[in-house]
Amino acid sequence: MIDFHSHVLPGIDDGSDCVEESLEMLHTAKNQGVSTMLATPHFYAQDVSVDHFLEKRKKAYDTLKRCMDNSDCPDIRLGAEVCYFRGIGRAREIEKLCIEGTRVIMVELPFRQWDEEVLRDVEELMEKQNVSVMLAHIERFYAYQKRKKIWKEVLDLPVIFQVNAEFFDGRKKRKLIKKLVEENRPVVLGSDCHNTDRRKPNLDMGYSFIREKIGQNAVDEIEKVSVEILEK
Ligand SMILES: [Fe+2]
Repeated sequence: MIDFHSHVLPGIDDGSDCVEESLEMLHTAKNQGVSTMLATPHFYAQDVSVDHFLEKRKKAYDTLKRCMDNSDCPDIRLGAEVCYFRGIGRAREIEKLCIEGTRVIMVELPFRQWDEEVLRDVEELMEKQNVSVMLAHIERFYAYQKRKKIWKEVLDLPVIFQVNAEFFDGRKKRKLIKKLVEENRPVVLGSDCHNTDRRKPNLDMGYSFIREKIGQNAVDEIEKVSVEILEK
């Protein structure tokens, strides 16, 4: 299993506080069968430049890496959870925030009603910067989207959908993910783990739910898409 969304790096955002906590998160994930975990710290363009963020991320990663025993930790791949901002599609250097070794960038859209500008920005990001967009925890935004036309237009974009493993905690969320999977849209799972208690690694729960309620084929497809994304 590949976990596409985590705040496992120590001391860089509201995720893990220290190396010990990060190691515990990694061990938990490994025991669940996670082979690779993407480390995706929050990136807020209003707070930090891209280069400064990358420097901070490298420092946090190097500190963790020194203490990691590879036999009981998943591999780590660096990425970012890029918080949406107006004009993101034209922002310089934004492509440096793609998942290491790929042209895929994970974007967290706003927790409010989306408008045409959000839609245009995502389109522009893909077209002008020639990157693929992965929308972080797509299921968490549904409740804010009263204008179903915009919601549908965003869902129709050629993006990758990252779904949090606890998506099955709501009926509408379950329905949405089932629909995306059944329509063969590219879906990947993430734990969005932040710590070792309230928001801990839980990818196995998401996979079990999908296996049970949608079927092994859906699990196979998600795993296939996940590997392909990282191989590109
Ligand atoms: Fe997150």
